Amino acid sequence: MNVEKYLDQEGCIDRTTEEIDEFIRTKGSQELFNTLHIVRSGQWNEGHTYNFFSQTIDGVSIFDHQKGRSRLGIEWLFGKLSNIVECLNPQRILDIGCGTGLESVFLAKSFPNINVVGIDRIKEMISVAETRKRKYSLNNVNFLVGDAYNLPVEKESFDLALFMNVLEVLDDYGSFDRRIQQSYNALRPGGAAIVKFALSGEENLEYHVDETSIYLRNSGFQAIGNDSFRFRNIDGRDFSYVIISGEKI
Ligand SMILES: C[S@@+](CC[C@H](N)C(=O)[O-])C[C@H]1O[C@@H](n2cnc3c(N)ncnc32)[C@H](O)[C@@H]1O
Repeated sequence: MNVEKYLDQEGCIDRTTEEIDEFIRTKGSQELFNTLHIVRSGQWNEGHTYNFFSQTIDGVSIFDHQKGRSRLGIEWLFGKLSNIVECLNPQRILDIGCGTGLESVFLAKSFPNINVVGIDRIKEMISVAETRKRKYSLNNVNFLVGDAYNLPVEKESFDLALFMNVLEVLDDYGSFDRRIQQSYNALRPGGAAIVKFALSGEENLEYHVDETSIYLRNSGFQAIGNDSFRFRNIDGRDFSYVIISGEKI
């Protein structure tokens, strides 16, 4: 499916912080969430679970947590994901920490012959993802409430695993190696893992790429590659999206 068309259908449009704050003031954050799916997830980790639909997380607007929400970045990411899927031709994709299912549903809609499983620990996330799935009447994507550290999936049953803005937010009771290891077990030999980060302009992109590449290598992945896209979002702030991929030996 065409990336722009999908994002249009999702109501994925750029809004400035001021516009979003005004929307919340007048209509409430739940309404915003329902209408503008630029809010990909308002949830980071356990500490914030119950603030999911509230306006702030620790006093910060949930949208300030959504760095890089600019449509430009999402278009780049989805274009890349489409290219990767066309190239690897996976049959089954596992989206770990799928949040509200934006990527899972996009891939299921774009590639009807592929089966996608999205897993997130927060049931409210999964319920939004289910709504998104129903919107497109898809039967090749399934969402499960589950923990990334104890994935409710069979060993070696996937060809591609995604960590979309997830690796950095999984609870700190595991090292990065341990986090990546979860996907390693779920992947068949020769399967691939894709890690995506969103970095602000000040953050050191090379450092994150190098570090994640080491973790992938330590976890038994090879042929590590990366790509990134730097853009100025609608608020005038610089962001980079970076994806790092590796193949399971
Ligand atoms: C920043 S969001 C990213 C959501 C989605 N992948 C996206 O790109 O829009 C991180 C997600 O990871 C989920 N998460 C955090 N720890 C988790 C865990 N241990 N197991 C499963 N999901 C987890 C959160 O609930 C949240 O939905």
